[in-house]
Amino acid sequence: MKLLQVDSSARASSVTRRLTAKFAEEWRKKHPDGEVIQRDLSATALPLITDDWGATQFEESKITPAQRSYLSTSDKLVEELQAADTVVIGAPMYNFSIPSSLKAWIDQIVRLGKTVGYGPNGPQGLLTKKKVVIITSRGSAYEKGSVREAFDFQEPYLRHILGFIGLTDVTFIHAENQAREEAAASFADAAERIGGIAIDQNQQVVAY
Ligand SMILES: Cc1cc2nc3c(=O)[nH]c(=O)nc-3n(C[C@H](O)[C@H](O)[C@H](O)COP(=O)(O)O)c2cc1C
Repeated sequence: MKLLQVDSSARASSVTRRLTAKFAEEWRKKHPDGEVIQRDLSATALPLITDDWGATQFEESKITPAQRSYLSTSDKLVEELQAADTVVIGAPMYNFSIPSSLKAWIDQIVRLGKTVGYGPNGPQGLLTKKKVVIITSRGSAYEKGSVREAFDFQEPYLRHILGFIGLTDVTFIHAENQAREEAAASFADAAERIGGIAIDQNQQVVAY
């Protein structure tokens, strides 16, 4: 069993980092022989999309050495994701959306022929049977039915892009109001939900 832990906060002792670490700790208890792969998106800047990205649409024999070298980061990140049974992503809200480091990771893992294919019915996600848990932290709150719900470009975007590559089993845990006096209570609530996550042997998330 493999857990891929992706962190994207710029802050070392951040809310999302503490919560993804808690998730990994709980996961390890359930899978003592499992492996946790950590991908810290603040530690290394991923390449941005350049003209060489076009080589993802070429036959292998047409790819130049320079393009092959450029695509090696994407190859590695896609392999990490393909190998994971469960993925936990720490996603702070930055400017109503996600950090650019997380967007750079997404740009590298949405890959034609590897994570998304195009058939007669249009795009089809190629990643299946994985559980994804996304832990967010926000200064304010964007709960369903509130006026601020429409400003949440984080959860809808992440749901859509992950679904695009076949990851449809996605659970969000939000630590909201981190800039307000409710911060500690909201953090404790998110931590409790993570602690309550029970993953059975078939990787079914059975309780939140
Ligand atoms: C650059 C930046 C942009 C932010 N934009 C928003 C925002 O649009 N809405 C919001 O509610 N909080 C916003 N915040 C507050 C963060 O979401 C909040 O501090 C959160 O706890 C950060 O996650 P972290 O502790 O894991 O780093 C922003 C913070 C930073 C640093």
